Amino acid sequence: MTLFVSFEGPEGAGKSTVIRRLIPALQKRGHDVVATREPGGTDIGEAIRRILLTSHHHAMLAETEALLNTAARAQHVAEVIAPALASDCIVLCDRFVDSTLAYQGAGRGLTIDGLIGLQSFATRGLWPDLTILLDVPVEIGQARRLASGEPLNRFDADAVGFHERVRRWFLRAAEEDPGRWRLIDATVPEGDVVRMTLNAVLERLEFEGVLARGEP
Ligand code: TYD
Repeated sequence: MTLFVSFEGPEGAGKSTVIRRLIPALQKRGHDVVATREPGGTDIGEAIRRILLTSHHHAMLAETEALLNTAARAQHVAEVIAPALASDCIVLCDRFVDSTLAYQGAGRGLTIDGLIGLQSFATRGLWPDLTILLDVPVEIGQARRLASGEPLNRFDADAVGFHERVRRWFLRAAEEDPGRWRLIDATVPEGDVVRMTLNAVLERLEFEGVLARGEP
């Protein structure tokens, strides 16, 4: 069965850990799973990711950031996501279109309408069936990032106010479109976050199955 699930949230929400733990849980239930991430997921996308995240690229314009992320996404959809969906896989994608709307739109101040048009162009109209918002307050997410020992990137240097705008955009999007979004409190223990996320994915699979069978 096919399903396109994106994962969004502020830094340090634990998206990659949750995705890693969902893969075997879904495979055990007989699903083929492709897990991938943005920016990245293809050779070209990973090269673009290095440009985007390099700490000394202070001069990068918001427009450049939006276009680079979106260019990587176009490549990612064509090379990885669309083929995986066509071969009946569940795609778990760490960040997708909503990250551009949140970070370059709400965060950097570019217009959301312009960015939405750009996303449709790049993805040829492909949007996620389900978007999981793993939500944590900015201070908690930042503390987790520091504790993880992972190298800090250009976005970690942005002011708290930037990250607050990003988080607020995600929360509002989830509230306005409950058909696509599921909000999950990512401050609770990791096992609970994984269980709630798995349930949300399984529920959506069930729903899509009912639709596909044409049941009332
Ligand atoms: P990453 O280390 O993968 O962060 P995280 O683990 O929080 O996903 O870095 C990706 C960064 O790129 C992250 O700060 C969000 C940012 N980003 C954008 O600004 N716009 C985008 O379209 C995408 C996909 C990511």
